[in-house]
Amino acid sequence: MDKAKRKAIIAGNWKMNKTPKEATELLGAIKPLVADADCEVIACVPYVDLAAAVEATAGTNIKIGAENCHWAESGAFTGEISTGMLKEVGAEYVVLGHSERRQYFGETDETVNKRTKAALAAGLKPIVCVGELLWERECNITEEVIARQIKLDLWDVTEEELKNVVIAYEPVWAIGTGKTATADQAEEVCAFIRAQLAKLYNQDAADAVTIQYGGSMNDGNADELLGKVNVDGGLIGGASLVAEKFAAIVKAASK
Ligand code: 13P
Repeated sequence: MDKAKRKAIIAGNWKMNKTPKEATELLGAIKPLVADADCEVIACVPYVDLAAAVEATAGTNIKIGAENCHWAESGAFTGEISTGMLKEVGAEYVVLGHSERRQYFGETDETVNKRTKAALAAGLKPIVCVGELLWERECNITEEVIARQIKLDLWDVTEEELKNVVIAYEPVWAIGTGKTATADQAEEVCAFIRAQLAKLYNQDAADAVTIQYGGSMNDGNADELLGKVNVDGGLIGGASLVAEKFAAIVKAASK
């Protein structure tokens, strides 16, 4: 299956930015700029922005996602959010296993897997993030790290469920640093991820998965990154907070 048959997805990951009022304003600015996009457009926003974001994008081609979810349906998990809560508010996607969660909040492949399974069971589409640290790349173990994350994060995810999974390759050293992976580096690891998926499932299933690149992707480098055959989209941090920049990336993915 060639790249053209996969769904290109540009998703903003707003991280801990924008109040509900600001979310409405930003989405209001993004809406007209991406109205004729020929790719899927998603904004993953802080929990408290979800309701405002869903309202602001009703009837448009922008889908809304959250930035995490818990695996339990309810219970004594102070500060956590359930898949049912996300579904009811209108979220369709959820970012899971982001390196900031892994680095600062003790997220492990085991918890990423539990969250992924729960999201899929609830009918949410997880954007599962994997990526190596700079130290790991320098030690030449990028492929080992990625293979392990893919295997563990998707443990017990069925081939049918895989159809609703998006993978984001985000080299940790490229996030928020302005230091983008080269298009060749991004392609190399995205192709490796697809090969791992083919091993765990089969080639057809692997060929159908949208694999995004994330890490300082912007309006200046999106064309080259998205031109690569295994890079099917982007997970955008900083540039997703500026309507024109985000729209330019969406345009690059629409070619
Ligand atoms: P930046 O685009 O700000 O580097 O962030 C990337 C990212 O972490 C998206 O999830």
